[in-house]
Amino acid sequence: MPNLLHLDSSVDPTNSRSRAITRTFADAWRQCSPAHTVTYRDLHSAPLPHFPDPWLHWPARVRPAEAVVAPDAEALRDSLIAELCAADVVLIGAPMYNYSLPSTLKAWIDYIHIPGITALYDGNVQPMAGRPAVVVNSRGAMYDVGTPTEGWDHGTPVLDLILGSSLGMTMRNITANLTLADFVPMLADFIDRGNDEFAQAHAAAAALAVELGSA
Ligand SMILES: Cc1cc2nc3c(=O)[nH]c(=O)nc-3n(C[C@H](O)[C@H](O)[C@H](O)COP(=O)(O)O)c2cc1C
Repeated sequence: MPNLLHLDSSVDPTNSRSRAITRTFADAWRQCSPAHTVTYRDLHSAPLPHFPDPWLHWPARVRPAEAVVAPDAEALRDSLIAELCAADVVLIGAPMYNYSLPSTLKAWIDYIHIPGITALYDGNVQPMAGRPAVVVNSRGAMYDVGTPTEGWDHGTPVLDLILGSSLGMTMRNITANLTLADFVPMLADFIDRGNDEFAQAHAAAAALAVELGSA
């Protein structure tokens, strides 16, 4: 059964554009066939605790004997990794917050990026290698190449590094810029572009769900 792991992290439960776009993707995924399943996790409404222990970043087999990790924390980490590894496709709603990721999404990354379990350490261990990760990035302003804000996005590059380079996943990005153009006066000239990018992101999400759901 093709399974989608769908994560949202926007703090906005009603008007979030990333939530709307990920919902479009998940709906199209479900429509691929009755066998297409979705596992949903809302990292904002059900936040994970901050990562509690440096030794939890490593498999038990490589820790020194004196390292003691709380069993409930290890169980949570292992359950999140199992949830990840049960996914054929991972879908992540990743709004830009302060030029970076929501802290709730960063907490999830801390739990699932474990050298020797999900990433390379002492062997060829990359269980998610080759599987698609779809990142839906919504951001209030714009970060176009050649403009003064080029390179200010420090969120999606982290996801590329962790999920792409470290876990070996195939990254697919959908971006909706200028989501605040109708609210921030100095972005008023870009309202149409913001609305266009939102519409295009919905269409791209629906098409990508069909593409990946048919693979
Ligand atoms: C805490 C916070 C910080 C934000 N920081 C930025 C920022 O650095 N750059 C930006 O372009 N937009 C920023 N925004 C605006 C959001 O990126 C924008 O509203 C986006 O649409 C949020 O995603 P959502 O629509 O899925 O909720 C911020 C919003 C919040 C709530």
